[in-house]
Amino acid sequence: MGYATSPSMKVIIFLMFVLVATTSSQSQNTRCPFDLLYHLGDGVFDNGNAVANMQHGSRLPAANIPYGNTHPGKPTGRWSDGLLDIDYGAQGLGFSEITAYLSENSSSANAIMFAEKPRIKIPSYTVSLNIQMSWFKKYLNAICPTPTDRADKLSNALFLFGDVEANDITYSLIQRKSIQQVQSYIPYVTKAQINAAREVIKMGATRIILPGNAPMGLGADPGSCANTADYDDMGCLKSVNDLIKLKNNELQQAIFGLQKEFPNTFIMYADFYNSELALIQETSISGKNKKMALQACCGVGGKYNYDKKRFCGYPGVPVCSDPNQYFFWDGIHLTQEANNRLSSALQQATLATLNCTIS
Ligand SMILES: *[C@@H]1O[C@H](CO)[C@@H](O)[C@H](O)[C@H]1NC(C)=O
Ligand SMILES: *[C@@H]1O[C@H](CO)[C@@H](O)[C@H](O)[C@H]1NC(C)=O
Repeated sequence: MGYATSPSMKVIIFLMFVLVATTSSQSQNTRCPFDLLYHLGDGVFDNGNAVANMQHGSRLPAANIPYGNTHPGKPTGRWSDGLLDIDYGAQGLGFSEITAYLSENSSSANAIMFAEKPRIKIPSYTVSLNIQMSWFKKYLNAICPTPTDRADKLSNALFLFGDVEANDITYSLIQRKSIQQVQSYIPYVTKAQINAAREVIKMGATRIILPGNAPMGLGADPGSCANTADYDDMGCLKSVNDLIKLKNNELQQAIFGLQKEFPNTFIMYADFYNSELALIQETSISGKNKKMALQACCGVGGKYNYDKKRFCGYPGVPVCSDPNQYFFWDGIHLTQEANNRLSSALQQATLATLNCTIS
C-alpha cells in the first residue's frame, strides 16, 4: 500500500470522474422510455475512473482493500465498501450493468472549473466537468458521426450531472479559503453545471437530472472548527452546510431558468441534501448506537473515526466488522448500505416522473 507514503495522498476527498452507462438491456421489473444512462459527476459516484485515470491510480485508497470488501469482496475503484448510489439507481431504472468510462491516460486533466480565479489546487486525479464533457463528446462523436445520429442517441438517454461541486468547495476550505470566499465561487460552479446541461440539451438530450450536493461538514473535513457552537445538533459544521444549502438553492434557481429556456426538456433537481440528511437522522434516532450515524466504519481518530492523515486503507487503520450498520464508510463516502437506502429514497420520487413503469 505504497499510497500511504505518497505526499499527494494526504488528502483524499471526492474526485471528479465521468461515468457512462451504455447498457440497453433492461431488467424484468422496470421499464423506462429510454435505453441509455450517462452520468458525469464526482467520486461519490465513481465506479472506477479515478483509479484508471492516473499513472499511480493503483495507489489510491479506492484501488485497495478494504474498499470493495462487502461487494464484490475486492477493490473495484469505487469509494465504498461495495456498490454506489448510482449502481442501485441504474438497477432501479432497469439497467443491468454500468460501465466506467476510462480515459486511458488523462492524468493531466486537472484543470478546475474556475481555474483562473481563486487558484485552488485540486489533486490531479480529479477531473473537471469541462474535461468530462470533452471525454463525453469524444465518445459520442466516435459512436455517432452526424449531429442527427447524436441527437437520436441523446433523445434516448437520461443524463445525470452531478454532484460536481464537492471537490471545489472542500479543497477551497482545506486550503483555508473563508466561507465568504468560497461563497463567491459558487456562481461559477453552478454556471459550469448548467452550461454542461445546456450543451447536451442543444445536442439533443431530452431528460436531465441535476443532483444537488449532500451535506458536508459532518465533523470530518473541512475542519479547524474548535468551537462546539459551530456545530449543529447533528454534529455537523453549520457554516459548511449553510454554504451547501445556498449552493443547492442557487442550482435550483438556475434549473428554473434552464427549464424556461427549454420548456420541452425534462429537467429535474435531485435533492441529495435532504434525502441524505433524513437518512442520517433516521439512523441516529433508530440506531442502537447513536454515534454510528456519523462515525466512519473505516477510519480512526476524533469523534467520527476520521483523520485525513490516517485515511481508510492506510496501514493499521481499523475497519468495522459490520459496514451495514454504518452510514459513512471512510468519513467522506458512504457505505453500500447507505448508498442503497439513499438510492431507494431518491428513486421513489423519480421513477414515476420519468414515466418508468414497474411490473
Ligand atoms: C495514452 O498513452 C499512450 C502511450 O503513451 C498513447 O499511445 C495513447 O495515445 C494515449 N492515449 C490518449 C487517449 O491520450
Ligand atoms: C411522461 O409522459 C407525459 C405524457 O405522455 C409527457 O408529457 C412527459 O413529457 C413524459 N415525461 C418524460 C420525463 O418523458
